[in-house]
Amino acid sequence: MNNVNRFDVITIFPEYLAPLNLSLIGKAQAAGLISIGIHDLRDQTSDVHGSVDDTPYGGGAGMVMSPEPWGSAIDAVAELVPNEVHELIVLTPAGQKLTQELAIELTKSKHLIFACGRYEGIDVRVSDFYSTQKNFKVREISIGDYVLGGGEVATLVIMEAIIRLLPGVIGNPASLDEESHTLTSDDGALVEYPNYTKPKEWRGLSVPDVLLSGNHGEIAKWRLEQARIRTKNRPN
Ligand code: ADE
Repeated sequence: MNNVNRFDVITIFPEYLAPLNLSLIGKAQAAGLISIGIHDLRDQTSDVHGSVDDTPYGGGAGMVMSPEPWGSAIDAVAELVPNEVHELIVLTPAGQKLTQELAIELTKSKHLIFACGRYEGIDVRVSDFYSTQKNFKVREISIGDYVLGGGEVATLVIMEAIIRLLPGVIGNPASLDEESHTLTSDDGALVEYPNYTKPKEWRGLSVPDVLLSGNHGEIAKWRLEQARIRTKNRPN
């Protein structure tokens, strides 16, 4: 399978992406499993103020990000990975909702480019233009029905959801098979069953006997049942 190994993020706040150097993703970079470039959109501006936005045509509140610096920045990062289809991810609350299924799908593109909009978003012609380019695939993605200050945090969320799925990133890949939204039953995706570790008793609460029984069949049955109950009782 073709797995993603190059990520480029375009933002006006490069420092926002500093957590990509920590933990799992930091280790994946150090091990050479992935490489990540963070790019300041303002490097693509020509005026002394480094303007990246302007008032919306048609009027209304807020500012819209101008297409010119975005076009220059996207063209420049595409050149870093020649002869590939670039998947351009535009973060917006209006986009396709992130799910585990979508994260899995995104692992299959070689090169992901994240466009972090701020203000009222990016002039839509940026998405429209790259949608017509045969070496680009454009996706608008939302991480949920709420409005953030910009796409940077959404990028961190999406990148973590993708990168932890890549071969070699998680020490024990079996742990990927039994987690929320990966577990399935006839009724569809399930959230994960409850987990326990030592001690057997804690503040008057005990570990269910079945988990101490050593009977793997019974344990699997109990876990599936618990996952079903949790899924059914989840508030949304
Ligand atoms: N930008 C602002 N809000 C967002 C959201 N919910 N998802 C993705 N990008 C965003």
